[in-house]
Amino acid sequence: MPTGVPERSRARVFGPHPGAPHAHEQVVFGADEATGLRVIVGIYSTALGPALGGTRFHPYACEDAALADVLELSRAMAYKNALAGLDHGGGKAVIIGDPATDKTEDLLLAYGRFLESLGGRYVTACDVGTYVADMDVVGRATRFATGRSEGQGGAGDSSVLTAYGVFQGMRACAAHAWGTPSLRGRTVGVAGVGKVGRHLVGHLVGDGASVLVTDVSEQALDAVRRDQPAVTVAASTQELVAADLDVYSPCALGHALTDEVVRVLRATVVCGGANNQLAHPAVAAALVGRGILYAPDYCVNAGGVIQVADELRGFSFERARAKASGIFDTTARVLALAEEEGVAPVVAADRLAERRMTAAAGA
Ligand SMILES: NC(=O)c1ccc[n+]([C@@H]2O[C@H](COP(=O)([O-])OP(=O)(O)OC[C@H]3O[C@@H](n4cnc5c(N)ncnc54)[C@H](O)[C@@H]3O)[C@@H](O)[C@H]2O)c1
Repeated sequence: MPTGVPERSRARVFGPHPGAPHAHEQVVFGADEATGLRVIVGIYSTALGPALGGTRFHPYACEDAALADVLELSRAMAYKNALAGLDHGGGKAVIIGDPATDKTEDLLLAYGRFLESLGGRYVTACDVGTYVADMDVVGRATRFATGRSEGQGGAGDSSVLTAYGVFQGMRACAAHAWGTPSLRGRTVGVAGVGKVGRHLVGHLVGDGASVLVTDVSEQALDAVRRDQPAVTVAASTQELVAADLDVYSPCALGHALTDEVVRVLRATVVCGGANNQLAHPAVAAALVGRGILYAPDYCVNAGGVIQVADELRGFSFERARAKASGIFDTTARVLALAEEEGVAPVVAADRLAERRMTAAAGA
């Protein structure tokens, strides 16, 4: 094709579906025979601005599985961006393939040309299977890639502000639960001390909390022990969850909050950086039933998307950090609304996000 846009690109518009305040605006399929690129971009909404969300590179078993994932992920990004106060709609891309073997420079460039053909309706960043260095390559072929390296004018690693935002969310939970935002004297259990968890531990220790950590990686634990010798290490997540915690902070993979975890958890607050913490929707009500205050994951872990959104304006760490500080107020609003309306905080968070999207769509 003369423009270099992958062949077999087609757009599909979906009608409204139950439970969604808006339909997906657009779902675009792209492929490039020469490089093996197969991609689906989901644009849930552009009411607040260009759709923003990462690119997941994953060996999906089939196209239907990839489509289901991109529809869910792009919808979730719309809620996260709206609640974070960003002027961005929600979008996501999935590339079907094994990032270890299928990710080549040519494929990423073809992907960049594909994104360019969407004219900025969707802006991408990193997600599972894609990294800052990949966005540097994609960004050579499109204006619509963010989350690039500092050397390329980008903001670099987003985990610094993600952790900072989680810390602000946790302070808001502390204020709600105990009347003071300080975590001094509280015991916080952090499960997963990778990029986000490790930075979070630094904030917690700095605030005077006692911190218990766990990770399946000895390397990750060694790095935390080196940074913060005062932390205690639990042998497993099961051991950490059952400990006498004030706050449990899931910072590893999704589905940390299962029925079993909620049953044994002794913490008053759950607030962590991991995405998709609820193993299934009913866990939100189970947490309320046990009197545990759960800060919705997508509310408190928005620091990363705040950072990549800022990069689009020419990155200013201070400006992005100031915006991420707003996670304190947003979390406080979510918890207050939950109490006022007698619903779980996840429901309150969804309502606040929906109000903003609906107001923008009607404007
Ligand atoms: N990095 C960001 O900016 C960002 C933004 C928003 C959300 N998140 C989410 O935060 C979470 C952590 O992201 P990250 O960037 O720190 O990833 P990471 O891969 O750097 O860290 C994850 C850590 O969890 C550990 N882990 C994996 N399974 C575990 C288990 N069963 N028990 C204990 N530890 C386990 C890993 O060994 C690793 O050290 C993920 O769910 C991610 O989706 C990250």
